[in-house]
Amino acid sequence: MGRLKRIRNFYIPWLKSEKSNAKKLAWDSRYNQLIRFQVLIDNIELSGKSILDVGCGLGDLCSYILEQGIDVDYTGVDILAEMIADAQKNCPVGNFICADIFKDKKVFGTKRFDVVFASGTFNLKLGNNEIFIAEMVKRFSEFSREYFAFNMLHERSSDFMDTYFYTNPEKISRIIAPYANRIKIIDDYLKNDFTVVCQK
Ligand SMILES: C[S@@+](CC[C@H](N)C(=O)[O-])C[C@H]1O[C@@H](n2cnc3c(N)ncnc32)[C@H](O)[C@@H]1O
Repeated sequence: MGRLKRIRNFYIPWLKSEKSNAKKLAWDSRYNQLIRFQVLIDNIELSGKSILDVGCGLGDLCSYILEQGIDVDYTGVDILAEMIADAQKNCPVGNFICADIFKDKKVFGTKRFDVVFASGTFNLKLGNNEIFIAEMVKRFSEFSREYFAFNMLHERSSDFMDTYFYTNPEKISRIIAPYANRIKIIDDYLKNDFTVVCQK
């Protein structure tokens, strides 16, 4: 089964449910979704910056940044058109685009963003995750001017599920090394997650 089909098959049934946004995106809880956002925004000075949120889902990071009173120029991109339609309703000040950035390298033309974020974008097992991550990191580097930062499921997790992809900071640091001047790993906020902040 192709990557897009896997992603669609996983998220679309949840999207049609009456659940909270966090549950529709398959997060364990809203707390677990928001703490990931908080770690991303705690580690980069965002005020006045342009932000690209890759795999933006329902636009919750856009709403969260606004709620913190931080003024940013936010763009969200997601592979699923249904996510983008709902994200635009949830956070009308954001600019939302439907694209697969793995395939569509030129979606932003020559535009660059100060910061690129991705929260939960690598969670699903796709059969070729290491290649997918390496290619996505290359894109994050191309699209960003100052920083890119993302989180991943940690292999020390105590409740492994076959649907998800788990890894560790050492493996991911090796993939990122060619693209970053400084790499910061944060892995003290949830047992099953870690965040990588890359300064260019
Ligand atoms: C777990 S959800 C997280 C959504 C949001 N970042 C959040 O934390 O609320 C992962 C999202 O990544 C999107 N995604 C996965 N691969 C993608 C790709 N290659 N390009 C754009 N979006 C992608 C999925 O469609 C899904 O909406």
